[in-house]
Amino acid sequence: MKVSVIGTGYVGLVTGTIFAELGHDALCIDSDGRKIDALEAGRIPIYEPGLDALIALNRKAGKLRFGRSIGEAMKHGQVVFICVGTPPLPSGAPDLSAIDAVSREIAKHLTEYRVIVEKSTVPVQTGEKVRVAIAKYAKAGAEFDVVSNPEFLREGSAVQDALNPDRVVVGAESDRARALMLELYEPFRNRTILTDIKSAELIKHASNSFLALKISFINAVANICELSGADVTQVARGMGLDSRIGAAFLNAGIGYGGSCFPKDVDAFVDISSRLGYDFHLLREVQRINQDQRDRFLKKIEAELWVVRGKKIGVWGLSFKPNTDDIRESPAIRICAALRDAGARVSAYDPKGAERAKEVLAGIEFADSAMAAVEGADCLAVCTEWDEFRKADMDKVKAAMAHPTVIDGRNIWDPAEMEKKGFTYRSVGRGAAGGPA
Ligand code: UDX
Repeated sequence: MKVSVIGTGYVGLVTGTIFAELGHDALCIDSDGRKIDALEAGRIPIYEPGLDALIALNRKAGKLRFGRSIGEAMKHGQVVFICVGTPPLPSGAPDLSAIDAVSREIAKHLTEYRVIVEKSTVPVQTGEKVRVAIAKYAKAGAEFDVVSNPEFLREGSAVQDALNPDRVVVGAESDRARALMLELYEPFRNRTILTDIKSAELIKHASNSFLALKISFINAVANICELSGADVTQVARGMGLDSRIGAAFLNAGIGYGGSCFPKDVDAFVDISSRLGYDFHLLREVQRINQDQRDRFLKKIEAELWVVRGKKIGVWGLSFKPNTDDIRESPAIRICAALRDAGARVSAYDPKGAERAKEVLAGIEFADSAMAAVEGADCLAVCTEWDEFRKADMDKVKAAMAHPTVIDGRNIWDPAEMEKKGFTYRSVGRGAAGGPA
């Protein structure tokens, strides 16, 4: 099938590539010509394991092409995906101006039937607004359908997620649109659920908010573990074995970040309130998430007594491992707070440093994990990269001025760290969790 994708950001680029991989003829367009120049020259603007190889393979096979205009996209694809950004406004509501602009441009080029799919994460009822906008600006009688097909891929495992989705949600309201969407997603037929458009939109916000809620819940439990002497990793294991609860997303830490959870929870609270419901529960999820960072900083302060003038090595800047994405990363806020408190911060991240340099002034960026801890009074671990798990902790200890490790991601075993001679604090693991 011929499919077009508007917007070559994270979701758009992965979506277009995966459709090509599934055997479709995909065209990805972006209004930012420099992005397209780079993609055509074989440069991939994001770090995502496996994506560059898949793009190269499918371009070579002639199944994936890039373009610059919505006109091209509308001419090419029977199904046209909108994958443009919906960044948060100060109110927490998403900025839908790019969706609006794209809808009007789509309308101008609507000469034969097209299925217009919203894949960008949008509040419930946006599909209806897109339909009205297109109908308003298109020629009378122009034929189209709007479909909601939310994306659930995770950064760092986007290719795997997209090639092996738990479910494909298609919110459509005409047989014609449903048939085309089912053909497009034929390999995932047994995992596709058909819904109305509003329900599909809500599935996305509700799913991400529920996962954020799971994280905040286990972080709250971690705090109880610290106060009572229990171990949150054991509690989470015991809870997760209940198939109704599930083991995923029960890792306590310094809170969730990234381009999705913080923004989507904000947006869900905002749309709920505009519809007349105060989603208190999600406000509390947000509050607990903020609180985790503050508790982590307090643990560092408690060990160092005075932070000013101390060297603090920070391992991890990205919001999670296997990505260079630092958006809403707890690590960035933590580095900034330590810097503001007068510490000499030396941060290292396997992939995220370049992006972090753009937003973090006044800290050092080390070339290696070892360089970051050289002469350090404390090591603060913010992201659980494999490289850190595998680090030779005897060497780390020898390099530090004092072997204090504050682990925000529970990478190591507290007993082993103590045996090695570290002062070790982690999250929610009895005495090793505190003091907070
Ligand atoms: C998320 C959703 O998982 C995905 O379905 C959606 O399409 C986009 O948003 P992503 O933001 O890429 O994906 O990352 P995810 O792996 O979900 O992690 C989000 C944050 O939660 C990270 O900061 C991570 O460190 C944190 N997290 C995750 C925890 O603190 N504990 C956990 O148990 C799981």
